[in-house]
This record gives sequence, C-alpha cells and structure tokens, in this order.
Amino acid sequence: MKIQFLGHSCFYVEEGTFKALIDPFITNNPQANSSPTHFNSLTHIFVTHGHGDHLGDAVAIAKSTGATIITNYEIACFLEKQGVTAHPMHIGGRTKFDFGTVKMTPALHGSGIETEEGLICGGNPCGFLIEVNEKKLYHAGDTGLTMDMKLLDVENIDLACIPIGGNFTMDIEDAIRAVHFIQPKKVIPMHYNTFPVIETDPTIFKEKVQNSEVIILKPDEIHTI
Ligand code: NI
Ligand code: MN
Repeated sequence: MKIQFLGHSCFYVEEGTFKALIDPFITNNPQANSSPTHFNSLTHIFVTHGHGDHLGDAVAIAKSTGATIITNYEIACFLEKQGVTAHPMHIGGRTKFDFGTVKMTPALHGSGIETEEGLICGGNPCGFLIEVNEKKLYHAGDTGLTMDMKLLDVENIDLACIPIGGNFTMDIEDAIRAVHFIQPKKVIPMHYNTFPVIETDPTIFKEKVQNSEVIILKPDEIHTI
C-alpha cells in the first residue's frame, strides 16, 4: 500500500486498483504542491468531516474522476445534491467494498459545512479504518484524545495517521497517549504547521513515541507499507 502525504490531513492511497484520496484539501492548502487536476484516475475519496480543510476539493475531484465519496450520512446527502456519487456510512459501521473493508471510527470534533448560506450540519466527524489486501490504515480525522481509541488496539493497525497540531485537535502530548492506546506498527503525524495556530515540532513527537515507528513525511513524500 502506497501512502503519499499531500500536506495537512490529505493523503493519496494506492493499493492495486484502489486509488483514493483522504480529506482532499488541495486548493488553498499551503502545504500542497499538487493541483486537484493531478488526480485523474481515482476510485474513492474519503471525507472525515465537513470543515473546509478536509472536505476541500472533494466535489470537484469526484466530478472530474467519477470517484465515489465515502463519508457520513449527512455529508453524503449534502454532496449528492451537488451531483456526485457518495456512499454514506456512520460511526461504528463496517462495510465491505470491492477493494476491501472500511470502518468508520468516532472523532471528537465538529463537522459544520461552510456554505454561502452559512454553516450547515455535517453530522458527526469521524475517522476511517481502511483495509485493503491485508494492509490496515487508520486515518483519525480531526479529533481530540478519546478513550475510544483504546478499542483500536485489537485492529492490528499497520499505519495510523493522527493529528498532532493542537488547538483544533490533539497536541503532541495527547497524540503520544493516543499512539499508546492504538498501538499501530507505524504512525504518520498530520494536521500541523499548515497554519500558525497549529505550529508544532513533529521531531518531538517522534522522539517521545515508544513501540511504534514514527514516519515524518514532507508534502508529496511517499511511504509504502
Ligand atoms: Ni476540522
Ligand atoms: Mn482540520
């Protein structure tokens, strides 16, 4: 499974014919070097919640590629009105797809969608457990530290992407506790240094995490599991 960091919480994931973006915030993402038009053969787009730095370019990319957006029920309804295909799920649900299995996990956060008519309800924020060809990826979305993460240790997660930037999500101290709960083989920190309010030093996270390998990716870098 190939995982490319595109800055902030945005990742491109490829395993065989499965080609997906998670939280496709590319336009206006100060860390992103690619453009939304770069992705022309996607199969799926995962959206963890309605905030602009996660929903991002989901509609435009889904329209240009025909990719199915996997997200919560409320965001799926909002997106389908805009003419894209969405697969609704909800917290705790696990579903088989042709590429593998997806489970929607809880996140402690908000999910309002900014529209021209104001903020509308985007349901509950989430994370995703994505299993393809016996490789299991966890993308936590935006979240604070939660005891629910303790339930993930039995999932045998190969790679966890977790936020460390503080202010809107866990900071380094809480992210270290989260890794202790989740026990993934590897961790990629995300959601930091995109904006001044979430500036932090990922090398401190790397130094302090025990029993999991921390991989710090620069935007566009690829890690394979
Ligand atoms: Ni958010
Ligand atoms: Mn965010």
